[in-house]
Amino acid sequence: MPLATEADTNTQVLNRGPVSPSRLLIVYPWTQRFFTSFGNLSSPGAILHNEKVHEHGKKVLTSFGEAVKNLDHIKQTFAKLSELHCDKLHVDPENFKLLGNILIIVLGVHFTKEFTPSCQAAWQKLVSAVAHALALGYH
Ligand code: HEM
Repeated sequence: MPLATEADTNTQVLNRGPVSPSRLLIVYPWTQRFFTSFGNLSSPGAILHNEKVHEHGKKVLTSFGEAVKNLDHIKQTFAKLSELHCDKLHVDPENFKLLGNILIIVLGVHFTKEFTPSCQAAWQKLVSAVAHALALGYH
């Protein structure tokens, strides 16, 4: 049943959520400085088991879900988050591209053969659109 398959895939994608920020913090350790309130990030093991990182990952992936649902209004959809990341969190927008590419690697590792080049192409477009929209509120 196509719908069940789609729902199942969505759940699997959402379940990858926690993994993406964990990888970001391990692969690009300088990004840890934004997450000082998250507690122990002292080793890859600590990062992978950190509940706050997991919770944050779910929020990030939920945002990507919102992007899919609002492709025609992506700028408005991310306006508030862009403001937050710029004015409050002071995250350099280059990091949005890094996280997007990490997410793609995570999906590739999880879905292996199902993550075809066409599938990757669609995700590359999505992560670029999200990174772009998140950067629009920067001044
Ligand atoms: C918080 C989305 C990238 C750092 C958040 C929140 C969302 C979000 C939904 C929660 C906002 C809230 O609770 O009101 C995204 C998306 C990204 C992204 C869609 C896509 C690329 C990044 C990157 C960094 C970052 C690359 C840093 C390297 C933070 C921090 C918080 C946050 C520090 C606050 C966490 C907390 O104290 O709970 N982000 N984010 N984000 N984001 Fe991002």
